[in-house]
Amino acid sequence: MAQRRFGSTDSTGRKLDVIGAYLTMYQRALNNTSFRTLYIDGFAGTGEIPLSEHKDGLFDEDVQTIISGSASRALDVEPPFSRNFFIDKRKKCVDALKIKFRDNPNAEFMTHIVGDANEQIQKICAAEQWRSQRGVVLLDPFGSQVHWQTIEAVAATEALDLWYLFPAGLSVFRQISSDGTVDATHAPSLTRLLGTEEWKNAFLKPSKQADLFGAPMSHEKIVTPESAAQYMIERLGNVFKGGVMKEMIPLGKHAYPSYYLLFAWGNASPKAKALANRLSKAAVKATDRKHGRIV
Ligand SMILES: C[S@@+](CC[C@H](N)C(=O)[O-])C[C@H]1O[C@@H](n2cnc3c(N)ncnc32)[C@H](O)[C@@H]1O
Repeated sequence: MAQRRFGSTDSTGRKLDVIGAYLTMYQRALNNTSFRTLYIDGFAGTGEIPLSEHKDGLFDEDVQTIISGSASRALDVEPPFSRNFFIDKRKKCVDALKIKFRDNPNAEFMTHIVGDANEQIQKICAAEQWRSQRGVVLLDPFGSQVHWQTIEAVAATEALDLWYLFPAGLSVFRQISSDGTVDATHAPSLTRLLGTEEWKNAFLKPSKQADLFGAPMSHEKIVTPESAAQYMIERLGNVFKGGVMKEMIPLGKHAYPSYYLLFAWGNASPKAKALANRLSKAAVKATDRKHGRIV
């Protein structure tokens, strides 16, 4: 099927390399335990991503590379996850996944769902029993599609790790104009994304100019993509009992990254806490080397 190009090789490749590395390490670490493991991909796509190459710092539309998407990377992991949930709101994507993985040896352990990631993930979190199961959730949206309630549901299982491509630049920073005004449709979307109206105090500052009665006339925008991501890290820290990775990985243009890749884990047992912390650091470090960052 025709696919939307949605990233540069650097950013998208880096994100998927970090997640792929984590999934591999996670499965190896849990291999000798009695837990069944679940991989839940809320925005699964088609399993393939066409990217335009960078040439001399510019996109070259003529040079296309296809890289493996998140669903393919999860299925490549050895040992495999006990169960895989692939969710996408577009039937065409889910059909493409079914065709692509038809002959995969783990095909019988896949559940394909056409639907909204929020509804479906909240349903899975409520329906599954988490005493004998552990897993990893990936939320890789284009924009502000993830609702805070979904994050809360994942955290409440105390059994799932979460990788979240948080659209700090795209859906927070860019939705607030420099004079601090927020479009009437964007304010509720920010509240849904962040789970509180408190963002208004964190991202906007009353301007010094006052009206005749002393009330501030307008606001000043003080949020940056980085501070928005930091805000989400704090929010994640309030609900994930295991912990939140301190490092946030900027993806997109350097000055104003569209996204940050964040990681949080729900299991607070000392062993699980240490493991998630160690594996996430190792996954980031392994891909830092490949993507040329100095570590
Ligand atoms: C950035 S792409 C995901 C790419 C995928 N993770 C990969 O690595 O191949 C976002 C996907 O989310 C889907 N999508 C958009 N809104 C959604 C929603 N509310 N629930 C589920 N899927 C949604 C789109 O159809 C698209 O396939």
